[in-house]
Amino acid sequence: MASFKLFLLPGDGIGPEVMAEVEKITAFFNANGLAHFEIEKGLVGGSAYDAHGQAISNADMALADAADAVLFGAVGGPKWDGVAYDVRPEAGLLRLRKDLALFANLRPAICYPALADASSLKREIVEGLDIVIVRELTGGVYFGEPKQIIDLGNGQKRGIDTQVYDTYEIERIGRVAFDLARKRRNKVTSSEKRNVMKSGVLWNEVITALHKREFPDVTLEHQLADALGMQLVRWPKQFDVIVTDNLFGDMLSDVAAMLTGSLGMLPSASLGETNPKTRKRKALYEPVHGSAPDITGKGLANPIAMIGSFGMALRYSFGLNEAADKLEAAIAGVLDAGLRTADISNEGGAPVSTAQMGDAIVAALGRAYA
Ligand code: IPM
Ligand code: MN
Repeated sequence: MASFKLFLLPGDGIGPEVMAEVEKITAFFNANGLAHFEIEKGLVGGSAYDAHGQAISNADMALADAADAVLFGAVGGPKWDGVAYDVRPEAGLLRLRKDLALFANLRPAICYPALADASSLKREIVEGLDIVIVRELTGGVYFGEPKQIIDLGNGQKRGIDTQVYDTYEIERIGRVAFDLARKRRNKVTSSEKRNVMKSGVLWNEVITALHKREFPDVTLEHQLADALGMQLVRWPKQFDVIVTDNLFGDMLSDVAAMLTGSLGMLPSASLGETNPKTRKRKALYEPVHGSAPDITGKGLANPIAMIGSFGMALRYSFGLNEAADKLEAAIAGVLDAGLRTADISNEGGAPVSTAQMGDAIVAALGRAYA
C-alpha cells in the first residue's frame, strides 16, 4: 500500500481545530487500509514564536522539506500584534513558501448548489461556479527588495515595497495556468495592471508570447486587475482559470471566496516545480481563510476549506484521484443533506460544530467506500 509522509502545521487560532478534523480523515484512510499516512507535527506562526522565538524553526523547516506534503492551518492573532516584523506569525508561512519554492498557488472557487444562497451574491450569479485562481506565490511585492521603512530625518519616514518579476517567474506560473486550463474548459484570463506598472507590461508580454509559442489551443484573455475584481462579482462564470501575481492573487482570491458562500469553503494548494527524475514536487496545502481569532476555541469554525485542502493533496501530491473524488463528494453530500457550520448557515436548522461537520464528512466517506 502506498505510504506518504504528511507534515502537519496547525498553527494558531482556528488552525488546530480545523486540522483535528483532517486527522479524522487520515485516520479513516489508515484504518481502512486505503492508504498509509505517516504523520508528524510541528509549530508555525505565533505558537512557534511562543515556543522558540521564531515563526518557524529550522528543525520544522527540515521536516517540511522532507515531507511528501505539508498541511498548514492558519497563523496570527492579536496576541502577537507587537512582535518584531521578521518573526511575526506570517513570516513562518512566507518562509515555507519561499524556501520550498512553492511558486504556484491554486485556489479553486467552487459554489456547491446547496450553498448558492449562503453567498452575498444572487443565486444565479454563483450557482454552479467552478473557477481556479492561479496565484504566483514566491515573487512580486511580497518578496521584492528593497522592502523597508527609512527615516528621512525631517520628521518624515518612507515605506518602500518593491514589485519585481523576471521572465522565468511569469513563464512558469503561466505554464501552470495553461496546463490546468487544458484539463478544464480551456480558457485562461491573465491579469495585471499594465496601464500603470512596468511589471504588468512585462507580465502581459511574457504570457502573450508563451501562449503563442506553447499553448495556442487555449483561449487567452487579458483583464486589468481592477476590472477583473469587478467582473468577479458581476459575472464570475465567464472565467475558467485566472492567472495573476502574488498581491492581486491574494486580493482576488478573497473576493472569489465570497462567491462560494464563505471564506471557510476555499482550499488551496501551493506547488513547486516537478522534479523530472522523481516526478515529485514540493507541496503545501492550506485553507484560504486565516486564524479567525474572534471564533477561536468555540467550535464554530468551518473545517471544509481545510479538509478540501487535504483533498487537493490527495490529488496533486499522492495521485489518489479516486479518494479525492470520494472526499469531495462526501463534502457535497453533507452540504446537500443540510449540514451547516455557522458561517454558511441559513434559516433552516441550528448550525453544527466544527467536530460535527468533520464527523459527518468521515461518515459520508465511510458510506462511499462501503
Ligand atoms: C493568504 C494569506 C497570506 C498572504 C498571509 C497570511 C501572509 O492572506 O494565504 O492569502 O497574504 O498570502
Ligand atoms: Mn490572503
